[in-house]
This record gives sequence, C-alpha cells and structure tokens, in this order.
Amino acid sequence: AAEVTTVEPGVLTMGTNAAFPPYEYKDGDDIVGIDAEIAQAMADKLGLKLEIVDMDFDSLIASIQSGKIDMSLAGMTVTEERKQNVDFTDSYATGVQVIIVKDDSDIASVDDLQDKLIGVQQGTTGHLYCADDFGEDHVNALPNGATAVQALLQGKVDCVVIDQEPAKAFVEANEGLKILDTAYTTEDYAAAVSKDNPELTAALNKALQELKDDGTIQEILDKYIKA
Ligand code: ARG
Repeated sequence: AAEVTTVEPGVLTMGTNAAFPPYEYKDGDDIVGIDAEIAQAMADKLGLKLEIVDMDFDSLIASIQSGKIDMSLAGMTVTEERKQNVDFTDSYATGVQVIIVKDDSDIASVDDLQDKLIGVQQGTTGHLYCADDFGEDHVNALPNGATAVQALLQGKVDCVVIDQEPAKAFVEANEGLKILDTAYTTEDYAAAVSKDNPELTAALNKALQELKDDGTIQEILDKYIKA
C-alpha cells in the first residue's frame, strides 16, 4: 500500500503531451509509449492506479505546481531553470536534439541554420536552444512535435529541431524527410514532481531504482527504441 499523498487518493495522475513517439503517442483513445509503460510500472510498485492526462507540453509544469497532476512523464529534459519550479526524479533515459529537414534541403548542419525558419515544439529545450542561438525571430514555435513536422512538410518552416527518437519516428512515418545531427549535448529525461511532495519523488525514485535493477526499464526502452 502506498504511503504517499496524491492529487486523487489511490491514483497516480501523470500529465504528458502525447505527440512525441515513441515516448508518448495515441493509439486510438489510449496513450501509449515508453513513458506510459514506465509510469504504469512505477504506479504498480506504489500500489496506485495510473491515470494519464494529455495536455500541451508547456502546461505540464504549471499543472504540477497547481496540483492538477501528480507528475509528468513527457520525455522532459532536466534543466536548471525547470528545477526552480519542480523537483525531478532520477533520470530514466537520455535524449539529444537533432534537425529534421526535407531530403532536398540545402541545410547540411547546424551551421546552415542562420537566416532559416526553424520549427520547434513550444516550450521545449529545442525551442530554448534555437531561440538562444538564432534568435526568436528565426523560430516558429508549434503546439507539438507532430504539428512542427506538418509545418515542415507543408514548407512553412525550413527544418524542425526536436529530440532524436521522436525525429526517427516522424521521419519513418513521412516520406521525404531526413535527420541531421546537431552539436547540442545529451539531455537527461526524468519525471517532474511538485516541490511540495518530496515523499512522492522519493517513492518514485525507489520504484525507478528497482525497475532499473530488475531490467524492466531497459526492456521498455528496447521495445520502442531500435539501435
Ligand atoms: N526533451 C524536450 C524538453 O524537455 C522535449 C520534450 C517534449 N515532450 C513531449 N511529450 N512533447 O524540452
């Protein structure tokens, strides 16, 4: 039985933005993917029922702070800035930002992005890096990863900067796109939890450690991520 307090007793409410395969995406009415499976495994350990709420990525932290959700699992990168507003669990995966371009693009590397219009997912690290490096004027912030890729296909942006695994999924699902590596460094993904609920962070960390030790986390990652 769980010793932790949650927004709804007996339930672990997770927020995510389900346009980010293979971490979270919709399968009919269900939200599936790496984060859904890891959250389910953690909820099982805590003796809680898992409930997943879909929302804009840039609403997640405010929803945690206002007590609408207990945590987010959303391929969310641990950053110093976010740490001022939420606590993070230990990391369960890593990501790296890449550039998606059309096959016939003249963009060959990050050095070619000056004066281009870069599509990003609103409020993500890719958005922040590109705004810092190229100026907010050169960035078109779209609601989510799927809409950013649509904008690229429609020629409304010149490229999309997004995390590598979703990039692979989008390139696989759409004709005529390819991936370039960027110089951006590796990021750690973790669950975000309210600063008012350190007991929950501790319980999630304990569950996560057990799930790492018994191979469950690696199994879930391997199921969705091809080498
Ligand atoms: N890793 C990036 C970040 O934390 C992007 C995450 C986007 N996740 C999502 N579910 N849409 O800013």
